[in-house]
Amino acid sequence: MTATVLGQQKIARPNALRGAGKAAAIDTAVPALLVEGVTKRFVVGRKRKPVVAISNVSLRLERGDIVGILGANGSGKSTLIRLVSGLLTLDSGRVSVFGFDIERDELEVKRLINRVSVDAAFFKKLSPMENLLFAARLYGLDVAGAKREAVAILGRLGIGEKRVGRPIEQMSRGMQQKVAIARALLTSPALLLLDEPTTGLDPRSKLDVQTFIEELRETHDASIVLTTHDLDEAERLCDSITVLAGGRTVVEDTPAGLIAAEARRMGRPATLHDVFMTHTGRSLDDDVEEGEADDIE
Ligand SMILES: Nc1ncnc2c1ncn2[C@@H]1O[C@H](COP(=O)(O)OP(=O)(O)O)[C@@H](O)[C@H]1O
Ligand SMILES: [Mg+2]
Repeated sequence: MTATVLGQQKIARPNALRGAGKAAAIDTAVPALLVEGVTKRFVVGRKRKPVVAISNVSLRLERGDIVGILGANGSGKSTLIRLVSGLLTLDSGRVSVFGFDIERDELEVKRLINRVSVDAAFFKKLSPMENLLFAARLYGLDVAGAKREAVAILGRLGIGEKRVGRPIEQMSRGMQQKVAIARALLTSPALLLLDEPTTGLDPRSKLDVQTFIEELRETHDASIVLTTHDLDEAERLCDSITVLAGGRTVVEDTPAGLIAAEARRMGRPATLHDVFMTHTGRSLDDDVEEGEADDIE
């Protein structure tokens, strides 16, 4: 199979790209992520009542861009992220990552993506470095190289060499979140899925993480899916935004496009906060399907 270099990874080329000439780089017409009409239901409770967590959602993320997923708690953000990362199976629809189908080309997709969730798991008695090197071995990375890379990544996140040897359990949540991001970056993912990476962080740590995400796009050629409750963060970091409510896409556009449309609607200057309230507010409750509203969070 023909191989091509993407970032630091060698990946096999998907069928769609085969025979597309000798270009070493991936066809830029292929989006980093394509989600087409995806639906996911969960069956919950003793009555086995179905909950539609994601309903006919589509989105397209161009290479090098950041797409923000906004929505109230229980709107389906994490489910969408888990579907893309292969942790959940699709009920219907299709997802492809750089042209690879997540079901048919599972291995290639696994090599291209990494996910950081709010509740990242660690070996708490071990240090950040030990946790990162454990992950490096799991991914079959060269350990000496991974160690150098880990020191560099942690340093950029404000975790100096003195700190990398202490147990994770002695670190603040902000620090732990940075270590989780550093761990995901070790594999140089071409598509990075960040599920609420700044939720619960103090303002300083939040800014560190946001700056780092910006830097990532510039220096790592990473394409990023970001879920957040911080609307300023979304406006600052995202090239496009998809707002979910009850598992459905209620609006999508660039931050500027969303704000301009809202300003036209309101007849006065608007903010992303106004956009969020308008599209996730009460007026939409009427559209929520039966059984969808159960929020276990
Ligand atoms: N594993 C699961 N089993 C049953 N219901 C789930 C599961 N995961 C999520 N849900 C439900 O799916 C909906 C969307 O949840 P989630 O994707 O976690 O939302 P968000 O991340 O936006 O807060 C919620 O109603 C939630 O209760
Ligand atoms: Mg969530």
